Amino acid sequence: MDAFIIEGGNPLQGEVAISGAKNAVLGIIPAAVLCACSSKIDNVPDIKDVNKMIVILEKLGAEIYREKDTLIINTEKPISYDVSDYEEETGQMRASYYLLGALLGRYRKAIVPLPGGCNIGDRPIDQHIKGFQALGATVVIEHGQVKMEAPELRGAHIFLDVVSVGATINIMLAAVRADGKTIIENAAKEPHIVDVANFLNLMGANIKGAGTDVIKIVGVEEMHGCEYSVIPDQITTGTYMMAAAATEGDILIKNVIPKHMEAITAKLSEMGVIVREEDDGIRVIGKHPLKAVNVKTMPYPGFPTDLQQPMAVLMTIAQGTSTITESIFESRFKYVDELRRMGANISINSRTASITGVKSLSATKIRTTDLRAGAAMVIAGLIADGETKITEIVHIDRGYENLQENLRNLGAVIRRVSEKDPACL
Ligand code: EPZ
Repeated sequence: MDAFIIEGGNPLQGEVAISGAKNAVLGIIPAAVLCACSSKIDNVPDIKDVNKMIVILEKLGAEIYREKDTLIINTEKPISYDVSDYEEETGQMRASYYLLGALLGRYRKAIVPLPGGCNIGDRPIDQHIKGFQALGATVVIEHGQVKMEAPELRGAHIFLDVVSVGATINIMLAAVRADGKTIIENAAKEPHIVDVANFLNLMGANIKGAGTDVIKIVGVEEMHGCEYSVIPDQITTGTYMMAAAATEGDILIKNVIPKHMEAITAKLSEMGVIVREEDDGIRVIGKHPLKAVNVKTMPYPGFPTDLQQPMAVLMTIAQGTSTITESIFESRFKYVDELRRMGANISINSRTASITGVKSLSATKIRTTDLRAGAAMVIAGLIADGETKITEIVHIDRGYENLQENLRNLGAVIRRVSEKDPACL
């Protein structure tokens, strides 16, 4: 298990370019199996979850060529709809659930192990199942596997009980090849939903309204390969914005879509951070002391839950008491004990954390509890007095491409050490 060693106190300076969106590409890669075809996908991030998805598809029979951030996915040869042998891979990431919708769409049947992913709450898939059943599938969950069959896949009117990113994309993946019209109401509106829908439409699907809470899909018989470039990652962008703000840095973040960052920009500006849209990116200039703010995580276009943990780190050194309310996941405060070990003043009441700013955090050994908590621990290490050791960074590798190189290029003093390295003990 690798760890990061970070010497705190160095303001980030310079430029960083954002890689492709994890939560978009993890829907787009399975979508490529919806026809016997070949698709070319650019701006694919080099992260563990993507690499795992590629391994699974190759084991199912797809031919995948990779060159830098470009993937060519060829599914002209039949691929298997039975993923049951690959529980180890699927169990390590949430997005393996997208194989359900894609294989049901192509083969009218699918056998996929229940998904894994960050331990941040209950995370049921009842809305996914509800959608597949409405489209005509019989669904059986046994021995940790979801088994589905739909002799006839037909369009349906589906109202989601909760706004779910995964259920919205999964139902889209199945419905694009169903007979007739499907309407998804109370749909999620995240940028990655729109990105997956755009990719599917380029493959010949007929989707309207992605990005709104009502998505209309008219099933098509034929689909074909396409060429597509994935959008920049909203959450990675937000992470670098917060790292600059926390370290009182001055950075230009390139290859971004400012519209996707509005909720984050608004909150950082409230804290007194300068966020400026420039021709080739977003400029973030940290101004201390930071002002305390109140944040509530919400589905897009609200403040993203995936930036809740990094935002909390900023609040630990702000002047006054901030609050952060987590409205999406039940237990996404597991990182708090690690920040308390660094001297943070945080109290939790149900789903709200009250964070009273302290003069500074003190460096120590902390662990990563999940992907975004990992990003938060890195930001905490960048501002702490002294040398911080962050263990179990495998979680971070799941979703951030070249994090330590990018930070080092921005002037951070950070290195990766492996278990065998005495420094890691
Ligand atoms: C996606 O997870 C993202 N993962 C998560 O990002 C992100 O936090 C989340 O959306 C919210 O934005 C991927 O895209 C791979 P949901 P997902 O379905 O699809 C409840 C990261 O760090 N719900 O939108 O699992 C659920 O329990 C990860 O990149 C049901 O009750 O999230 C939650 O409370 C972490 N039944 C809420 O809805 C269902 O069938 C939103 O979950 C589905 C969800």
